[in-house]
Amino acid sequence: MKFVVTGGAGFIGSAFVRLLIGSGRASLVVNLDKLTYAGNPENLAAVADHPRYRFVHGDICDQSLVNALIEETRPDVLVNFAAESHVDRSILSPEPVFETNLRGTLTLLEAARLHKLPRFLHVSTDEVYGSIEPPHEADEDFPLRASSPYSASKAGSDLLALSYFVTYKLPVTVTRASNNYGPYQFPEKLIPLMISNAIEDQPLPIYGDGMQIRDWLYVDDHCRAILAAIERGRPGEIYNIGGSRALPNVEVVQKILAALGKPESLMQTVKDRPGHDRRYALSSEKLMRETGWKPEMPFEQGLRATIEWYRANPGWVARVKSGEYQQYYQRNYEGRAV
Ligand code: NAD
Ligand code: DAU
Repeated sequence: MKFVVTGGAGFIGSAFVRLLIGSGRASLVVNLDKLTYAGNPENLAAVADHPRYRFVHGDICDQSLVNALIEETRPDVLVNFAAESHVDRSILSPEPVFETNLRGTLTLLEAARLHKLPRFLHVSTDEVYGSIEPPHEADEDFPLRASSPYSASKAGSDLLALSYFVTYKLPVTVTRASNNYGPYQFPEKLIPLMISNAIEDQPLPIYGDGMQIRDWLYVDDHCRAILAAIERGRPGEIYNIGGSRALPNVEVVQKILAALGKPESLMQTVKDRPGHDRRYALSSEKLMRETGWKPEMPFEQGLRATIEWYRANPGWVARVKSGEYQQYYQRNYEGRAV
């Protein structure tokens, strides 16, 4: 199959591109990426010169670029990873989030409609269900209750994508995954931020009481689930993708500190994130039943592998933490210690 992947220079998109090329599953992978602060060509060094891989630097909001790319490539499937993906940044500046996550998704859908694309996979998030009271888990029919500008933009783009199935019969599938972790994740997200700060003996900022619960999914398990949804899932459907490993944030951070042999005194309570969702909990029963997929990486093993990757790649970390990252970090964390 020929793939167009958007946002393939980011954390999950690059893992997906590496999987497609490494597994020999794709005859061609075209990666359209704007290379925002989160897009990093270094993430694709392993495939950059591969004959079946092609990189296009551009914005998914650029309709003529997207139309030309689809016209020229005629892909069997388009997988849309491109997004502004961070909740804290969406709280600080909502506009770019809505531009890429909504306008960009619309642009891709329009090109897909025009060229009658055989398959469109829109990558989304469990955050669209909002905070979930125990003991409940969200299945795909659970009401949408987005809390942040990020999750509202993703919920909107999911509905937009599904409307193209209903109205135009475009074969759209939406996947909603829980919190991913693994190598190459930008250190604005919990796990890589805590690992890299701990390695540098810097404070680890814990939002509020740190008892918020997230369900952790290893990035390669997520990528395999997306492939399963493309190959064996049904158009017009939503598939949840969870890691089946729910943990309070503070426990995740304690595990990181223990693995690195660092003291728990590095943890520093900071003022909570506004609108912070307390608990995410997801049922992936539908995807497992229909495709046979299941998460394979045990959390402790995945966390160890992730920590080892960050330890082994100080140059990557130093480069992504220089420049803009420093301004973001200051803006998000300064004056927040309690
Ligand atoms: P990321 O922030 O690491 O990467 C996003 C990529 O999109 C970057 O390469 C960036 O350059 C690119 N991009 C941004 N705006 C663009 C634009 N206008 N045009 C073209 N490219 C653009 O994100 P990620 O964590 O890899 O997430 C990928 C997708 O998965 C997102 O849609 C996100 O909502 C979803 N998701 C993420 C998680 C998670 O835990 N990280 C969980 C569930 C779903
Ligand atoms: O659930 C899926 C979502 O997971 C994805 O859609 C998003 O793209 C991804 O960013 C992630 O969103 P979260 O807000 O859950 O992830 P984040 O890593 O930002 O935060 C995880 C938890 O850790 C959350 O409860 C907030 C907390 N946290 C985070 C940071 C960055 C802290 O306590 N301190 C921090 O410094």
